[in-house]
Amino acid sequence: MVKADSPAAEGQKSPLPSRGPPLALGGSPATVRRSGTQKNIRECCDVATSERDRLRIHVRWMIRRDMPEVLAVEQEAFEFPWSEEDFTRCLRQRNCIGMVAEADDSVVAFMIYELHRNRLHVLNFAVRRSHRRLGIGTQMMGKLAGKLTPERRSRILLEVRERNLPAQLFFRSLGYRAISVLKDFYQDTTEDAYLMQFVPAAEPAIEAQPRRMAG
Ligand SMILES: CC(C)(COP(=O)(O)OP(=O)(O)OC[C@H]1O[C@@H](n2cnc3c(N)ncnc32)[C@H](O)[C@@H]1OP(=O)(O)O)[C@@H](O)C(=O)NCCC(=O)NCCS
Repeated sequence: MVKADSPAAEGQKSPLPSRGPPLALGGSPATVRRSGTQKNIRECCDVATSERDRLRIHVRWMIRRDMPEVLAVEQEAFEFPWSEEDFTRCLRQRNCIGMVAEADDSVVAFMIYELHRNRLHVLNFAVRRSHRRLGIGTQMMGKLAGKLTPERRSRILLEVRERNLPAQLFFRSLGYRAISVLKDFYQDTTEDAYLMQFVPAAEPAIEAQPRRMAG
């Protein structure tokens, strides 16, 4: 992503393009809970599962009124957050789109991406810290992947800071692969970025049924 890629307490980022990584210290309550005894692990997984089950997420286009909440998620997520002006400058462009995820009437995640002739490019993306590891990021990326078509926009690209291990693991879990290293990509640090790509798996070909010969 031009800028989407590194959590503040969990990373850093800079204004357009790019951000830095979270060295995933801490983590969500669910993550922390998972580090107990076997029993605690079981209990905490149960809690996390029921939390996931209970959570109703609504993904929709971002509107102007979402900006304060989006900025709050942004500031909590990145060490070098985008300013409101960065968002509006980006969203003013015709090929730039904002999406948010709402839970209980508040914005818990957002994504900014660009439409290009043959690909989608994620520029900025974050989930509110209190709502991580609940599948919200996966749902949003799934929504985005649903916009791909083999004939036209057939892949998603984004940049992730080299130290943003949680994001790398997240994207990897969704089938993204690093396809190149972008040297000295960021303005705020000397970090490199991984260019990650998602290409949907081709539908398995339907095997031809063995022809039944007459007679
Ligand atoms: C990266 C981020 C968007 C993930 O969102 P999320 O809603 O927490 O992700 P999900 O709950 O859908 O996670 C799906 C899977 O990704 C992997 N994953 C997600 N976060 C992870 C972490 N911190 N460490 C290791 N693996 C992680 C896990 O396999 C997870 O499945 P599991 O929870 O069943 O183990 C979120 O951590 C975030 O906002 N980070 C800060 C901003 C950022 O780095 N944005 C990306 C910029 S490139």
